[in-house]
Amino acid sequence: MPDDKPDWDANRESLELNRRKFFIRLGAGSLTVAGAGAGAFALQYLSPNVLYEASPVVNVGRPEHYPVDSVTLDPRFGIFIVRLAEGFYALSAVCTHLACLSVWKQESGTISCPCHGSVFQRDGSIVAGPAPRPLPWLRMWLTDDGELMVDRAAIVAPRKEYVRA
Ligand code: FES
Repeated sequence: MPDDKPDWDANRESLELNRRKFFIRLGAGSLTVAGAGAGAFALQYLSPNVLYEASPVVNVGRPEHYPVDSVTLDPRFGIFIVRLAEGFYALSAVCTHLACLSVWKQESGTISCPCHGSVFQRDGSIVAGPAPRPLPWLRMWLTDDGELMVDRAAIVAPRKEYVRA
């Protein structure tokens, strides 16, 4: 009668070894995944949480692009560039009622808000509401290179700052 017990034990040992290897690999894999996740969170935590906003200072081009006695809306920046015989100034085109972008109406010579009908003079003063305040004047200057710059964050007194080019 053949004794098959040693084969049985050998198979059982082999099975145990495979099971052990499987669990070792499973544990190592789990630790690797957990370590990678912790590393990703650590990197995210250590990186600066900064919101980058566009600069309020914008270049609106050269003076010769604006004819004398003109009001030009620059929709990229939400501003009007006004050129009179006295010089340039910049107005915010954002309506002081609920912040719609207003537009220049050449036919009436006024700035008009399409949302609720406010009307402004080209110096920003109110002709008709519901806007509660005039359109603010913004700081404007000419660089040494002859470029017109506007600081959208700097409100200046109306009719005090004409830029001469
Ligand atoms: S947002 Fe301009 S009138 Fe209301």
